[in-house]
Amino acid sequence: MPTRRNFVKWSAAIGGAIGLRSIDDSFIAHAEPRPVSLRTQIPTRAPKPLDILILGGTGFTGPEQVEYAIARGHRVTLFNRGKTRPGFFKGKVADELIGDLNSDTSALAGRKFDVVIDNPTTLPSWVRNAAKQLAGNTKHYIFISTTSVYADQSQIGINESSPTVPMPAGLDPYQPDQRNERQLAASSNPANYGAFKARAEQEVLTQYPGISTIIRPCLIVGPLDRTDRYTYWIARIDNGGEVLAPDSPNDPCQYIDSRDLAEWTIRMAEAREFGTYNAIGPDKPMTTGELLYGIKAVTTAGAQFTWVPWEFLKAQGIRPWSQMPVWQPPVGATAGYQRRSAAKAIAKGLTFRPVAVTAKDTLDWHRSRPETEREAVLMGKAQNGLALTREAEVLAAWHASQGK
Ligand SMILES: NC(=O)c1ccc[n+]([C@@H]2O[C@H](COP(=O)([O-])OP(=O)(O)OC[C@H]3O[C@@H](n4cnc5c(N)ncnc54)[C@H](OP(=O)(O)O)[C@@H]3O)[C@@H](O)[C@H]2O)c1
Repeated sequence: MPTRRNFVKWSAAIGGAIGLRSIDDSFIAHAEPRPVSLRTQIPTRAPKPLDILILGGTGFTGPEQVEYAIARGHRVTLFNRGKTRPGFFKGKVADELIGDLNSDTSALAGRKFDVVIDNPTTLPSWVRNAAKQLAGNTKHYIFISTTSVYADQSQIGINESSPTVPMPAGLDPYQPDQRNERQLAASSNPANYGAFKARAEQEVLTQYPGISTIIRPCLIVGPLDRTDRYTYWIARIDNGGEVLAPDSPNDPCQYIDSRDLAEWTIRMAEAREFGTYNAIGPDKPMTTGELLYGIKAVTTAGAQFTWVPWEFLKAQGIRPWSQMPVWQPPVGATAGYQRRSAAKAIAKGLTFRPVAVTAKDTLDWHRSRPETEREAVLMGKAQNGLALTREAEVLAAWHASQGK
């Protein structure tokens, strides 16, 4: 049964739904201030300042790269369309170049950089478009890829030498995306996302031989995340009451805090480290129980978890990853999804914030978001997550099946 506290929050959510704006629009228009506790350590200055070009830089991971790089004494230039959080770094970065990796990279002409960090690219044609201006004009190219490039996610201990997804027959990797949106190109058919990213990696290796770094993060979490996967749990647990939890608290769990990823990316640039790396946290095996109880530890709402076996959730039509975010069944085709290896990156200095720091900072950020965005997460109207109403139905069905 919902608690009174839940009911009050839920009623407010329904009221707020009237005239609900598009989440994406509000995201782009809203250059929100961020909580001051985003960084737990004051970075020291790098031994040598670098000229760093950040492609993108205003979404999720990018801003953390920008802030850390500036704090380390580097000179940062941004290149993007000027749509996402315009003015976010006004006066802080050396230059803000406007263009489009899909169609117009002329703003990069004649520029030279020590390092380029490519955040937004999924399509190989974007790597090629950028290379028209940047090949020969940068000493290092860092490409933010993904662990979705791996072909066999049932394998436990996937490492950088595991095979990647081939391009499906009939798909032209160099066809420009007519809709001009990376997110759409990838998410309209998630099955192709890994294949495009893998092909884009190959294009990077071709364009920047011997001077590229391919970074393959798993699920990225933390403040500024607009996908509301990890943030669903933050919002849901902070709302209190009985919380539907996936399968078993002993299931494996992996994610990387966007600040850990961004800061290590900059340190890899400083050290001129090349090669391909999984960027996955934490360093010790973690469970879904640690994930959810870790979040509960930074809230006061008194959430209580009811762990419901995967077979029952599946029969209820619940989807892993999107409706039970972060979690994937630790069996069958996704058995290795939360058990990949980050040993190579850890050997090169990838470090991890405590679970509680990620949880607390994400909670603070989530509470600072516009009300419509916060409500959407609990109403099943965000990109990911389960509506409170649907959660209550599944919990009731589970209790009925147990004779309670
Ligand atoms: N989220 C995850 O869990 C996850 C997991 C694994 C890997 N990844 C990968 O992580 C990478 C980093 O994503 P992020 O959102 O954190 O990066 P970000 O740099 O913080 O944000 C994306 C940036 O790309 C710019 N952009 C979008 N389309 C563009 C275009 N056509 N031309 C030029 N700039 C463009 C956006 O600005 P404008 O809109 O103003 O152009 C924005 O600044 C992605 O490649 C993703 O595949 C993500």
